[in-house]
Amino acid sequence: MTREKTEILFSEESIRKRVGELARQISSDYRDCGELLLVGVLRGCYIFLADLSRRLSIPGGIDFVALSAYDRGTTATGPVRLVMDLRTEIAGKHVLIVEDIVDTGRTLDYLLSILRPRNPASLRTCAFLRKPSRLSKDLKVDYVGFDIPDVWVVGYGLDYMGRYRSLSDIGIIRAEGDPGPAAGARPAVR
Ligand code: IMP
Ligand code: MG
Repeated sequence: MTREKTEILFSEESIRKRVGELARQISSDYRDCGELLLVGVLRGCYIFLADLSRRLSIPGGIDFVALSAYDRGTTATGPVRLVMDLRTEIAGKHVLIVEDIVDTGRTLDYLLSILRPRNPASLRTCAFLRKPSRLSKDLKVDYVGFDIPDVWVVGYGLDYMGRYRSLSDIGIIRAEGDPGPAAGARPAVR
């Protein structure tokens, strides 16, 4: 895979260490809750969720949702849309939403508004990355791997125009002679 366009922000080793810390924290917080249902937000969550779930020491299940926005690639103003719903009934269950990255927070806010009325026993959020300067909503993320500046990051499940998801580390993408995707630019499919 082409690497020259990315500058490493988090190495594989620092990702592994932080995922372990998050897993220990979550396992401890939920140790008396019985089962924990992890809800992954496709597609960006797939690597983080695979790593996190394997390091939790509490029982539980996994389900997925897919969301998309009609952004046409450059703005964050399009409505968020549910493309694929859960297959699991969540009433009475402890649910943890797992996201790759929280940018403006619109995706997570929308997902919470859909899941909350289904009456889970608890509903919390976990994002591997967060861009605090971009957060437009007063949104609490319960577990955050790293806070990052307003840059476009790829790897570890994160893409730019469908590429770079399978990189093992996380990099900042900048095309040669190009300052990188405009602040706030995003692919239309998450
Ligand atoms: P939000 O609704 O603005 O919080 O956007 C969240 C979604 O946008 C994430 O789940 C990602 O799919 C995508 N996204 C935001 N920032 C980045 C980035 O830097 N790299 C890759 N995807 C991103
Ligand atoms: Mg995502």
